[in-house]
Amino acid sequence: MKMESYLAKEEKFNRTTEPHSLPIYPTSSFKFDSIDEGIDLFENPSKGHVYGRYGNPTIEAVAQKIANLEAYELDLDPFGIMVSSGMAAISTLTMGIMKAGDTLLTQYDLYGGTSYLFQNFLTKFGINIIAVDFSDIEQVQNVIESEKSIKMLYCETPANPTMKCIDLSFLASLCKKNDIICAVDNTFSTPYIQQPFKYGFDFVIHSTTKFINGHGNAVTGVIIGKNKKDYDVIWDAMKVLGTNCNAFDAWLVNNGIKTLAIRMERHAHNALELAKRLEGMKEVQRVNYPFLQSNSSYHIAKSQMKNGGGILSFELYGGMEKGINFMNSITLPSLAPTLGNIDTLVVHPASMSHRNVPKDIRLKYGITDGLIRISVGIEDIEDLFHDLAKAIQ
Ligand SMILES: Cc1ncc(COP(=O)(O)O)c(C=O)c1O
Repeated sequence: MKMESYLAKEEKFNRTTEPHSLPIYPTSSFKFDSIDEGIDLFENPSKGHVYGRYGNPTIEAVAQKIANLEAYELDLDPFGIMVSSGMAAISTLTMGIMKAGDTLLTQYDLYGGTSYLFQNFLTKFGINIIAVDFSDIEQVQNVIESEKSIKMLYCETPANPTMKCIDLSFLASLCKKNDIICAVDNTFSTPYIQQPFKYGFDFVIHSTTKFINGHGNAVTGVIIGKNKKDYDVIWDAMKVLGTNCNAFDAWLVNNGIKTLAIRMERHAHNALELAKRLEGMKEVQRVNYPFLQSNSSYHIAKSQMKNGGGILSFELYGGMEKGINFMNSITLPSLAPTLGNIDTLVVHPASMSHRNVPKDIRLKYGITDGLIRISVGIEDIEDLFHDLAKAIQ
């Protein structure tokens, strides 16, 4: 063989000693020893890897780890499929499960991108969307009993950015009784704080871009099913929609996961302390944080969350103008349209994450022009409060 030919070939690598930390597999395909092995793998994908869009060892290890966390100490056989973003998780799940003529029952106060996907995109494929207030038990029961085409219920708790929590146990039991698949976005809580499978949910999705990664250096998402029997339908959708994750981002998420517990404890400790202090300031009209006793979701949150998580939102007297002045006066947190990083991040939902939500719906669900969302980081609480209080004043 000439050197030119040898240069183009891959050398066999030694797999005899297992690496201590997860390797990255940056490969678009996998090699077969024979045509028979190739055919076998195409026919039985669980036996090995074929093509990068279908699966990759790095990505699958991380997906299974998150699935195991969601099912931690529960008697389940969960699976996880990592995809390219939180939005990819939501679109893959809903498009994988639903067909034209089916109805998706959801809420108004969702992450803005999710609302946009449901109202402006899934509807193009003949999927009907009904949005309700999931805390209005009577309304939810009436809709479910009268609308027989509801195939799936999709919710978010705590909701972005109102921090309203909904009763997972109530919704899951209602869905079970009426043969409806239920799915929840658990991005704000992570499985460390809240495990929706415990209450009977069928699917959990995450934007792993957020707390699960925790360091703001990867955009990824994950779909977790509580039963491996549902794997094929979601995997099939991921494969044909091409929403697969990339190995490097999955690897970054894997690094972040290892500190999830200590990060979530610190985020929640700082957020609760900040929420209490902000509530005591005369310039602040309202603070939304699930573990504040004044919060309308307090009892539901306490019953299903280990702590209140790292996000709060608040409104200053003086609306939009005061809000903008505040945002321009902070120095320690960053103005950045994401959440769940180790450093504190501040956004203005009306002009950023929820800019595509119609104003009347936004206002109806408390996403006012002056609302500010803080993803509370792990900094020293005195430094953080000092900076925010100075900006407020
Ligand atoms: C609660 C929630 N779900 C889903 C998403 C979408 O995630 P991604 O940006 O990773 O697509 C976001 C994004 O901010 C979010 O806040």
